[in-house]
Amino acid sequence: MELKPVKLRKYLAALASALSISAVAADDIPQVTIDATRPGATIHRDIYGQFAEHLGRGIYGGIWVGKDSEIDNINSFRTDVVEALRDIHVPLVRWPGGCFADEYRWRDGIGPRDQRPVRVNTHWGGVEEDNAFGTHEFFELVELLGAEAYVNGNLGTGNPREMAEWLEYITGTSKSAVVEERRNNGRDKPWKVAYFGIGNEAWGCGGHMQPDYYADLYNHFATFLKTPRGSEPRYVASGGHTTDTSWTDELSRNIQRQMDGISFHFYTLPTGEWEDKGESTGFGEEQWFSTLWQTMRMDEFIRANKKVLDKNDPEKKLGFYVDEWGTWYNPEEGREPGFLYQQNTLRDALVAAINFNIFHAHADRVHMTNIAQMVNVLQAMILTDEDKMVLTPTYHVYDLYQVFQDATSLPLEIENPRTYSVGDQSLPGISASAARGKDGKLYLSLVNLNPNQAQSIAVRVKGAEVVAASGRLVTADAMDAHNSFDSPARVEPAAYRADEDNGNLQLEVPAKSVLVVALSS
Ligand code: AHR
Repeated sequence: MELKPVKLRKYLAALASALSISAVAADDIPQVTIDATRPGATIHRDIYGQFAEHLGRGIYGGIWVGKDSEIDNINSFRTDVVEALRDIHVPLVRWPGGCFADEYRWRDGIGPRDQRPVRVNTHWGGVEEDNAFGTHEFFELVELLGAEAYVNGNLGTGNPREMAEWLEYITGTSKSAVVEERRNNGRDKPWKVAYFGIGNEAWGCGGHMQPDYYADLYNHFATFLKTPRGSEPRYVASGGHTTDTSWTDELSRNIQRQMDGISFHFYTLPTGEWEDKGESTGFGEEQWFSTLWQTMRMDEFIRANKKVLDKNDPEKKLGFYVDEWGTWYNPEEGREPGFLYQQNTLRDALVAAINFNIFHAHADRVHMTNIAQMVNVLQAMILTDEDKMVLTPTYHVYDLYQVFQDATSLPLEIENPRTYSVGDQSLPGISASAARGKDGKLYLSLVNLNPNQAQSIAVRVKGAEVVAASGRLVTADAMDAHNSFDSPARVEPAAYRADEDNGNLQLEVPAKSVLVVALSS
């Protein structure tokens, strides 16, 4: 009997089913095999941290509007924004910068608001900064969100005494003049600082330093940072960016004072060029592809830095913190370029999910990351315009991935993988990650990078029998589909379910989509 290929596949599938060879893909479709018998590192919830800088409408207008605003607010914080962020359980917020941090004088932002000095925000639009949002306001925000605090100290233009007194002001319990000042400003109890950064981008806006000079300064400043016993934050050294591992090498060898992790920054630019980064909307498939290609480089950067860390810190005491990442596009026409406001499309949703899958795979070192930024700046969760608010596709991906916070990563393999090609360049067709959630359930995320073709994926789990997958999917009709104030629900999660058929669990993953499912027996 001679069978045509399609008939042959059907025949073999029927034969496999008759012989009870369960869970083997009926044809050569990609198969994801999750090994539930080999649990890996914990996916720290701080991987889902966010960054809020004094930049454009990132804080003023986007989060903080003042008590007397006509916008509905909880003690000056926008009610709509706070509620939306609470829903995705933001675990950690980094503040006040960024570049802004290395010019920030923390004393400007305490005490009666009408007496706080006005400064110029030299980095971001040259606008006046009235310091209405300061230390007390930041800690009120993180308390409202149920998040933890990552405070970034000023090493660039500050001095060790100022930095030490800020940390004392925040965490102190004594009757010292600095702590009494906090009490006089209305806060008796100390706050908790989960992470404290000593400078930012020391290689650039933080002072254009060489790694060995920064290492000396870090030792100098860190010597004087003191907190009550048991209140020590994790100290973060400002590390490198993109392909440069020299910072990780120098800092992991030559910092002598307490250091818990080294930071790393990488932004995804569609063109890879700062002069003309690419547009946030209206792009074609070439820039869809190049953006995903650029963002997948995160894996290579983390691997290169981990190699250095594994040599210098084999006991794995140091974390590798990607405390700024996300897309960065050309400024929108008619907007202040220094405010870094950009639209956020389905492409950004895929960028977020691909990065999460990469972070999960390196959860042994990557314990914390912060997307840049939380509201109205770069790859934001939320965009606002006066009293209007819209949730971006990136927000929805953070929502889907909540199940991975503090989950246990699981190894997975993809057999018969497809590639996604444009011209003579190729990317993996699928990005995937699996974990055992805190609730004991098995979770799988699948990202289909191909904007034109759906993919059928067979799923198998070693150590568990799974017969169904249910969860949520984010996709849309166009690569640059986005939510606007007039049309806020164009990109939204939809319910998803698949059941086994003849012992095979097969998921249909639509083109250009992000899927997160729980696998059940
Ligand atoms: O996120 C915007 C800016 O990008 C930050 O202030 C800086 O650290 C980085 O260059």
